[in-house]
Amino acid sequence: MAYDYKTIVPYLLDWYDYNARILPWRENPKPYHVWISEIMLQQTRVEAVRGYFDRFINEIPSIDALAKVEDEKLLKLWEGLGYYNRARNLKKAAWQIVRDYGGELPADYNELLKLPGIGSYTAGAIASIAFQIPVAAVDGNVLRITKRIAGSFDDITKEKVKRELSEDLNRIIPKDRPGDFNQSLMDLGATVCLPNGKPLCQQCPLMHLCEAYHKDYIAQIPVKPPKKKRKIEQRTILLMEYQDKYLLHQRAAKGLLAGLWELPGIEEKLSSRKLRSILNDKGLEIASLKTLGEAKHIFSHIEWHMTGYYINLSHLTPEYIKENSFILADEEEIKHTYTLPSAFSPFLDQTIDKRLGNN
Ligand code: ADE
Repeated sequence: MAYDYKTIVPYLLDWYDYNARILPWRENPKPYHVWISEIMLQQTRVEAVRGYFDRFINEIPSIDALAKVEDEKLLKLWEGLGYYNRARNLKKAAWQIVRDYGGELPADYNELLKLPGIGSYTAGAIASIAFQIPVAAVDGNVLRITKRIAGSFDDITKEKVKRELSEDLNRIIPKDRPGDFNQSLMDLGATVCLPNGKPLCQQCPLMHLCEAYHKDYIAQIPVKPPKKKRKIEQRTILLMEYQDKYLLHQRAAKGLLAGLWELPGIEEKLSSRKLRSILNDKGLEIASLKTLGEAKHIFSHIEWHMTGYYINLSHLTPEYIKENSFILADEEEIKHTYTLPSAFSPFLDQTIDKRLGNN
């Protein structure tokens, strides 16, 4: 039988009145602001999003402006947030909103779901926070809290479990404060009902209702099957300088980091000797070569284990640049024009950023 979550509502809202986090997008929850914040928050923590949100809204203040923004500017504003398709989908959705809804986000859960980048969680969050529509927004945090409250060993990775919880919450979500209700769960999940066996139950407004707390199941709930191991890829990353400019390569239009710029790479880890010989074979003339050390970058399904080298070239032909689809960019362009994912930061931070005094 479905658990009746009605009892949690007043405790959650009272708690939220005193404990809601002060967040930039809550100050003026215009639909556009709510939408941008929810997309940024999809795979990224609140603390990481704070700075990005204000800068984004300052640079692109409206849906109209978003529909017209240049891709390179949009991606640059997203640089470091990861999952860059989120940014591309924002622009596509802005187009659609201008074309189909007169430039205003639709105040309707099912219409929101039609927009690129908006799934059930985000549609629920926008509908409830921006438009006061009583619809739940269920993500991992909400599943964790509610399954603990109910003492339920449901596998929270199952779509059916998520769908049924949405239905249960849609029945009890308060019509006068749906956005606050959803956000109280988000904040409780982020600050009190923490994952990985570390919840702060003594601070929880729902402790007295929580089955998992009373039966000592906090460490066992929520239930999730073990994650697949990430694939590990070894890479050599090259910061190649020629006459105060650096070689950049644009990644393929599909796949990981699609269409973004990168430092040229080789898909294995090379010693400096081996690297020298490969570069010599390609006809490059090396004035100096030094190691930039090792770094790891974790994507959702892949890990890059990288070794980096700085190489100063004494000779470079336009043919070589063209054949390899490279470009030469100066430091200012790397800082302000081209979007380089944060996987490359460990190597850029030691070199370019340091010289620009941004460390
Ligand atoms: N995570 C996703 N959306 C959020 C919101 N509106 N407030 C706090 N955390 C969130």
